[in-house]
Amino acid sequence: MRIEDPKILAALPELSVELRRGASLAELTSLGIGGSTDLLRIGTHESIPGLLNLLDSRGVAHRFLGGGSNLLVGDGELPWVVLQLASPDPDVVLEGNFAQVDAAADLGRTVTYCAKHDLGGMEGLIGVPGTVGGALRMNAGAYGMQIGSYVREVKLYRAATRQIEILRGEQISFEYRHTSFAPDDMMLAVKLELPSKAYREILQGIRICNEKRRSSQPLGQKSAGCIFKNPPGASAGRMIDELGLKGLSVGDARVTDRHANFFVNAGQASAKDMLTLIADVRERVRSAFRVELENEVVIWSA
Ligand code: EPU
Repeated sequence: MRIEDPKILAALPELSVELRRGASLAELTSLGIGGSTDLLRIGTHESIPGLLNLLDSRGVAHRFLGGGSNLLVGDGELPWVVLQLASPDPDVVLEGNFAQVDAAADLGRTVTYCAKHDLGGMEGLIGVPGTVGGALRMNAGAYGMQIGSYVREVKLYRAATRQIEILRGEQISFEYRHTSFAPDDMMLAVKLELPSKAYREILQGIRICNEKRRSSQPLGQKSAGCIFKNPPGASAGRMIDELGLKGLSVGDARVTDRHANFFVNAGQASAKDMLTLIADVRERVRSAFRVELENEVVIWSA
């Protein structure tokens, strides 16, 4: 979608919003799939309610993009604009055991920065790509930990009240790859409370997680991490593997040999290819195991 409305175009500079015309979502997502649309980069949190009121009043649909690492976007010209926070400098501020982190901060760099200041707990998240805001919204987790355990406060734009609000950790429920945030709430910043731990010790934990990840996941290939959530008490990857589906492909969308719950874009895969592969694998698992796999990847179909 291209913004042509003069009223919106005139208001963007005062709102500290930068317009990037015809941004390619394939370039903004780790899967390397997705069509194009106008991208609005937001410079200050405080302008968000005004920007959203303006877009809504002028009938411009929008989606919020984090780091694009858990996302499958549709092909072609997209029917909504994309909003993304620009990262402030600094994006992490430490005070005792608390880390105040902007949602646009890179997750891996945040974990490392905290580690260097002897704050641990998030070692398992080190290889997870994306932003802190994205990790928060999905309650990202790995190797027995999840980010939600450390959340003490969240600053967000709440779609229900159309305002920026601060929620305390206890007001939010964090479950397996799921939170109580509404789909159109926008994460802005989070206050984490992290346990004190010596950098040396944290580094050891980081190395172990890195090694496990390297040996079991297709790092360096274009993926969105795991495609399906694990059903209670089972592993989606193991089930898909047991059906002999590693290597199954539709166009350039392929189930990796390394881990059967990672589907990669091995070249020029389209969203249609990837969606067909996802539907095919889900159907095979359903008929073999009588289990309905739920998507872990977020899908923005056009
Ligand atoms: N397995 C197979 N074949 C495969 C893949 C896995 O037999 O192709 C077996 C493994 O041998 C293991 C079991 O399945 O016995 C579980 O596999 P793994 O340890 O790789 O964990 P997972 O359940 O597949 C989960 C998360 C990952 C996270 C890892 C490590 C989900 C859907 N996946 O994977 O998260 O990194 O544990 O904690 O919850 C993600 O969220 O995108 C993600 C990749």
